[in-house]
Amino acid sequence: MQVDRANEADIQRAYIEKCREYLLDKEKELGRPLTACVNTFGCQMNARDSEKLLGILEEIGYKPVETEDADIVIYNTCTVRENANLRVYGRLGQLHKFKEKNPDMLIILCGCMMQEPEVVEKIRKSYRFVDIVFGTFNIFKLAELIHTRLNTGSQIIDIWKGTDYVLEQLPTDRKYKFKSGVNIMYGCDNFCSYCIVPYVRGREMSRPPIDIIRESERLVADGVREIMYLGQNVNSYGKKLEETEEAKGSQDVTERVTFADLLKELEKIEGLDRIRFMTPHPKDFSDELIETIAASDKVCHHLHLPLQSGSSRILKAMNRHYTKEQYLALVDKIREKIPDVSITTDIIVGFPGETEEDFEDTLDVVRQAKYDSAYTFIYSKRTGTPAAKMENQIDEATVKNRFDRLLATVAEVSHSVSARFEGQVMDVLVEGLDDHEEGLVTGRLKSNMLVHFKGKEELIGQIVQVKLTECKGFYYLGEMIN
Ligand code: SAH
Ligand code: SF4
Ligand code: F3S
Repeated sequence: MQVDRANEADIQRAYIEKCREYLLDKEKELGRPLTACVNTFGCQMNARDSEKLLGILEEIGYKPVETEDADIVIYNTCTVRENANLRVYGRLGQLHKFKEKNPDMLIILCGCMMQEPEVVEKIRKSYRFVDIVFGTFNIFKLAELIHTRLNTGSQIIDIWKGTDYVLEQLPTDRKYKFKSGVNIMYGCDNFCSYCIVPYVRGREMSRPPIDIIRESERLVADGVREIMYLGQNVNSYGKKLEETEEAKGSQDVTERVTFADLLKELEKIEGLDRIRFMTPHPKDFSDELIETIAASDKVCHHLHLPLQSGSSRILKAMNRHYTKEQYLALVDKIREKIPDVSITTDIIVGFPGETEEDFEDTLDVVRQAKYDSAYTFIYSKRTGTPAAKMENQIDEATVKNRFDRLLATVAEVSHSVSARFEGQVMDVLVEGLDDHEEGLVTGRLKSNMLVHFKGKEELIGQIVQVKLTECKGFYYLGEMIN
């Protein structure tokens, strides 16, 4: 898809202006502000994209709201598992009812699910009330697409198959004042055999370090203290960077920059207190990266290290490029260098061909790796992936049985490790008022665990010292130390 790289930001700003004119007229006619709701499904990538979408809508003049009876509703969709798709179809019926009451309402679908041709076909045929459909590669065109919809009155569908261009310089609206995500790369080249992400997010593309550093500095100047650096496989960061135009034009890039190099640069940013990242791939977790994290004051000692399966045979079929033994050796090495590390993971149950023995291997790794917590998923067949064509898809009852046993083992393990900081005084970044009890605030340890303690609203966004008095399983109760 062709974009006028030099002028694209100006072009999109002009569309924002044009949409603003429409909005002002409409507000006058209705005698009320126009509202917008962006609903995010899926992972941190989508959450960050939604901040960009909301930024554009607010720049046009829409007032952000949480409820879906708004003048614009965007579903930023996920398709990593089948149930993510089903939820979207289920909720579209509800949106249609809102539109019947408010005919000028715009319903917009975007995100990973829209990169699947069958989905778009279904919406084109059976969901005519959807106004605009776009994918993961052209979210920066939101204002242009709204403008086209308003002028043509017909359903607008604009899906790109891929891109080597991402427009970054548009407004964003951050969900939190004090923490933010920053993309360091887009797409994925790993092609794990069960996973649809490489097909819907395109080829891996790293952003030049200087752009990441500048964006981080701007966020810190705007009050951000914690940044989560985002990518599908962050430790392959920089692999293709030297080939890109931006990198060639940048004086800062003379040779291959690794993820560890990038972390070292980010560490230097004054005012940035906490650095997190998501997601590293075990196959690319270098010693240099472990050393860098161990030596850093800012990189949080929390690593999300997706296992997927504990069976070397299944890992091979998954195209993960590590064995059970290599994974466990990596965990040992990390724990040796970073003794207070918290490790969390993702696990899939019921991959085609998984035997009871394979599953026992997964339970064994859970016990040995001593995870603080684990996201557990039932394998979902995704059309177009190699695993979808594999024989020996596992029957539902077997999968359910294994899933329940996995949950029980994860709970047992995480319960035994999560209390290990009890009695210690630790830094907590205060995130908000406690949802359940008045007079309490909620914050996060560097390990990512939540802590609830007595405190006032003014503490939000601050890092304070808290004594962890009692572990309640998934969270601590604590007392602030003055
Ligand atoms: N890039 C990251 C995460 C991608 S998706 C990584 O490699 O870890 C997040 C998680 O969804 C994956 O870690 C995996 O556990 C799960 N997942 C992906 N495809 C799936 C599928 N077809 N069925 C079930 N779970 C899946
Ligand atoms: Fe999917 Fe594997 Fe890429 Fe993660 S690394 S997004 S699981 S293909
Ligand atoms: Fe889902 Fe897309 Fe993320 S498929 S998990 S939202 S990259």
